[in-house]
Amino acid sequence: MRYATITDRLAGLGSDKWALHVAAIRRRQAGKTVLNLTIGEPDIPTPGYLIEAAAAAMHAGRTGYSNGRGEAVLRRALSAHFRTLTGREIGSDRFLCLPGTQTSLYLALMALCEPGSEVILADPMYATYEGLIRAPGAVPVPVRLRPETGFRLAAADVARAITPATRVLFLNTPHNPTGAVLTPDDLRALSELAEAHDLWIVSDEVYGLLTHGDAVFTSALADPAHEARVVVAGSISKSHAAPGFRAGWLCGPAEFCSRALALSETMLFGSQPFIADMAAVALREPDQSPAPAMAARMARRASIIHAALDGVAGLRVHRPEAGMFALIDISALCGDSERFALALLDETGVAAMPGASFGAGLEGWLRVALNASDEDTARACALIGAFARRWIE
Ligand SMILES: Cc1ncc(COP(=O)(O)O)c(C=O)c1O
Repeated sequence: MRYATITDRLAGLGSDKWALHVAAIRRRQAGKTVLNLTIGEPDIPTPGYLIEAAAAAMHAGRTGYSNGRGEAVLRRALSAHFRTLTGREIGSDRFLCLPGTQTSLYLALMALCEPGSEVILADPMYATYEGLIRAPGAVPVPVRLRPETGFRLAAADVARAITPATRVLFLNTPHNPTGAVLTPDDLRALSELAEAHDLWIVSDEVYGLLTHGDAVFTSALADPAHEARVVVAGSISKSHAAPGFRAGWLCGPAEFCSRALALSETMLFGSQPFIADMAAVALREPDQSPAPAMAARMARRASIIHAALDGVAGLRVHRPEAGMFALIDISALCGDSERFALALLDETGVAAMPGASFGAGLEGWLRVALNASDEDTARACALIGAFARRWIE
C-alpha cells in the first residue's frame, strides 16, 4: 500500500528517543527494582480542587461540542493570565485552546511552515521538536547551546544560522532539558533578529511557572514591540500537575489565530468544555496553584544531586534555573550517553535519559528528572556515584 511521506519523515522520531525509558518499564515489569528518573512528570497527583472543578462541570452538563477557538470562559481566563505575564491587555481573540502544548506547537508549525522552510532551534532540544518541524516538511536547523553560557540561546549563534529559507525561530524558555531561562536581554536580541529577517517566533513556555529560587521567567510575548510575530504555546500539564487533562493553548496575533482556526477545526472540532472550565479555575486561582511548591521541591532535588555528584569520579552537575530536570556531564567518563545510561540501568536500576535523545548538543550528558522523592533522589545519586567510580577503574 502507498502511504504519505509524512509517515517516513516522522518514522523513528517518536518512541525511538525514549528507548531507555521503555527499557526501564520493561525491567520493572520483569519484577526488578527501578529508580525511574526519565520522564518530566509532576511529582504529585492532580490537585483535588481541579478534579472537583472538572467533575462539577461534567455534572453540570458541560459535555457538549465546543468550538475551534475554545470556550469563552477559558479564553477570558487566559486573557487575565497573560495580562499578568506581559503587563498589558491580550484580547481573548488572541487565543486558541488546544489539547496540550504538544498539539499547540504542532498546529503553530503547520500554520507557519511549508516544505523547505527552515526552523532554527536550540540543540539540545525537547525530544518531540524534530518531529514537530518535520511534520509540515520543514527543516530543523539546530544551534548549539553551551554549558559555559548557562545553555542560553545566543542571538549571535542564531544570526549565523539564518538563511533566506528561515521561517521560524523556535524558542523554549524555560528550556527542557537544560533548565535555562532566557533573560529580557536575550529575548530582545533574538526578537530583533526575527524582526530584521521577518521570522516568526514560536515559544514553548510550558515550564514558565516552574522557576527555581530567584530565577525570573520572561515570556517571549512580554515586549510589545515584537508581538506581531510571536506565538506562545503553553498548558497546565506541568504547572498544575494535570498532564492527562490535555489542557493547553496558543497565544498569537489575532490574524494568526483566525488563520490557524481552520486547522484547529479540521483536526479537533473543538476541545472539551468541562476541561476548559477546569483549566479556567487553574488559571484564575493562582493562590491554590501547586506550581510554586513543586518548583521548590525540584530545586531542592537539583541541590541534592549537585551536592552528591558534582566533582565525583569526573562527573559535573548542571543545576537548572527552572523546570523538572538536572543534567550530569559524563563526558569525562564516556562519550556515548546511550551506552552509559543503559549500563547504569542494567547494573543499578537507575533510569536516566541519555543526553543524545535531546540532540547532538547533549551527547556526553545524562538528563535526570527531579520528580522522585528526596530520599529516592539521594539513593539514585549514591548508585550513580558508585557506578561512575567503577566505570573509571
Ligand atoms: C518542553 C516541553 N514542551 C511540551 C511538552 C508537552 O506538554 P503538554 O503536556 O502540555 O503537551 C513537554 C512535556 O514534557 C515539554 O517538556
